[in-house]
Amino acid sequence: MFKIIIKEKYEDLGVEANLLIRDLLQKKEDAVIGLATGSSPLGLYKAMIDDCQNKLTSYQKVVTFNLDEYIGLPIEHPESYRSFMERNLFCGLDLDPDNIHLPFAKDAEDEEACLTYEELIRRYNIDLQVLGIGTNGHIGFNEPKTSFDSPTHIMELTKRTRLDNQRFFDSLDDVPTHAITMGIATIMKAKKHVLLANGVNKAQAIYDMINGPISDEVPASILQKHPDVVVILDKEAAGKL
Ligand code: GLP
Repeated sequence: MFKIIIKEKYEDLGVEANLLIRDLLQKKEDAVIGLATGSSPLGLYKAMIDDCQNKLTSYQKVVTFNLDEYIGLPIEHPESYRSFMERNLFCGLDLDPDNIHLPFAKDAEDEEACLTYEELIRRYNIDLQVLGIGTNGHIGFNEPKTSFDSPTHIMELTKRTRLDNQRFFDSLDDVPTHAITMGIATIMKAKKHVLLANGVNKAQAIYDMINGPISDEVPASILQKHPDVVVILDKEAAGKL
């Protein structure tokens, strides 16, 4: 079930989403939070850091799980999702480093890494998962046609996703071709989702997620079956609703 919140501008998205994080941490100081990368959650991450530094929240007992990671980039590469998270969130929170989890696969055949990450997530239970959405409707790195039953797995990225993410690299050739990602079944197990999207280039994916048929062509459409999804949009991303 979707609760849709439409805000005037990008900055308001993060503020709104942060209220849900605050609320969760007030009720459960050892909450398990799923995290996403990309531009969409950056405002939220800034608001989380502000709260933590102003002692409104504490992450000392919080456990985090990231959705995905590129394959083929060393962890210290500035565009690895580990580096992204360090730079944009972890550096400003009082998290215990032992409680931070990101998947990591050494190559596109590393099935072991998928099993290990999936098992670890199962031992916890994600209370709140932050999500963005790809222009093709992907969540995490679950590209169109991914099985709704998929656990953590390795995905070959579509040309469209690689083109979307090219802005962070020198050229398309530098954008990794594969990623390890929580599967759709993994994502669906989270108790609550907060999905953030902004900009006109997300409007069609948001429309399809909410109003389209539930189809593996639009991986995010499976969220229609989840009991608790808060969708926070700016006016452009909500433009087709
Ligand atoms: C990447 C990530 C997704 C993210 C998407 C949208 O492909 N794997 O988790 O939701 O990009 O990114 P952005 O928020 O930058 O538009």
